[in-house]
Amino acid sequence: MKNTATSFDPSLRPVQRSESKLFFRVLRPTAVVGLLLFFPACSEEEEKEKRAKLDELVEATSPKGAYEQACAVCHGPEGQGNEEIGSPSIAGLPGWYIAEQFRKFREGKRGAHRDDTPGQQMRAIATSLSEEQIKEASETVSQFPLILTEKPPEEANIEKGRILFANVCMECHRYNGKGEVVFHSAQLISLNRSYIRRQLMNFHSGRRGSEPGDITGQKMVDVTSRLDEEDIELLVDYIGALAHGDDPRPARER
Ligand code: HEC
Ligand code: HEC
Repeated sequence: MKNTATSFDPSLRPVQRSESKLFFRVLRPTAVVGLLLFFPACSEEEEKEKRAKLDELVEATSPKGAYEQACAVCHGPEGQGNEEIGSPSIAGLPGWYIAEQFRKFREGKRGAHRDDTPGQQMRAIATSLSEEQIKEASETVSQFPLILTEKPPEEANIEKGRILFANVCMECHRYNGKGEVVFHSAQLISLNRSYIRRQLMNFHSGRRGSEPGDITGQKMVDVTSRLDEEDIELLVDYIGALAHGDDPRPARER
C-alpha cells in the first residue's frame, strides 16, 4: 500500500510519460466507474438516514410499554435497580417468581408491615396496576439480561460463607443460587448486596414473611431466626462469590 502511494507522489519524482499514459488508460476510467458506483451508494446512505429518522419518530410517538411506563422510573431502564430508593435489580428474575411476588404484594403478604417502607412503595405500585399491565411488565423484566450480584470485597471470608450457604441455604436455593420453582425459592445471584442484606434482616425481624398465610415467606423467617448479623454479612459476601462462579457443593457436611 505504502509503496504504491509513494511511487505516485509527484513531490517525490517528476511524472513520467508512461505514468501519465497509465492515468488516462487505467486510472481515469477507474475513477469514472468509481464515481458512478459512489452516487447510488450515497443515495442509499440517505435512504438509511431517512429510515432511522422515521423509526425514531415512530418510537417517540408510539405508546410506551408497560415496563417503561410503570417500572423504569424506580428499577431503571434495564431493570438494574436504584440503590438510593432501595429498589433491587430485577433484570432476569424468573417469570414465576415475579408473578408470585406481585400476588403477595397485592394480597398484603409482602410490603404491608408498617416498618417496611421500600416494601410499601412496591406494594402501592402492585395494587395500582391491572393484571395485564403486570403481566406485560413482568415478561419484559424476565427477558432483560441478568445483572450479577457485585463481587465481594477482597477481605471477605468466603470460606465461612461457603460453609453456611452449603449447609443452610443450598437445599432450597440450589448449588448455583438460581432458585427452584418447586420450592418457590428465589434466584439470589442477581440481587444487589444491600438488597440481600435488607431482605435477610426483614425475614429475621418478621417485616417480611410473617403475615398469616405466607407459607413460603415463613420458611425464610424460620431459616433467618437462626442467623445473627455476622452470619448475614458472611452470606451477603458469599452470594457475590457464588454469582461469580464459586462452587459450594464440596462444603456440604451431610
Ligand atoms: C416507586 C418505585 C417502584 C416502582 C414504580 C416499581 N417498583 Fe418494584 N420495587 C420497588 C422497591 C423499593 C422494591 C423493594 C421492596 C422490598 O424491599 O421488599 C421493589 C421490589 C420489586 C420486586 C421484588 C424483587 C425480589 O427480588 O423479590 C419485583 C419483582 C418488582 N419490584 C417488580 C416491579 C415491576 C415489574 C414494576 C413495574 C410494574 C415495579 N416493580 C415498579 C420500587 C418500585
Ligand atoms: C426451606 C427452603 C429455604 C431455605 C433453607 C432458604 N431459603 Fe431463602 N427463600 C426461600 C423461599 C421459598 C423464598 C421466597 C420467599 C417469598 O416468597 O417471599 C426465599 C427467599 C429468599 C430471599 C429473598 C429473595 C428476594 O429476591 O427477595 C433471600 C435473600 C434468601 N431467600 C436467601 C437465603 C439464604 C441466604 C439462605 C440460607 C441462610 C436461605 N435463603 C435459605 C426458601 C428457602
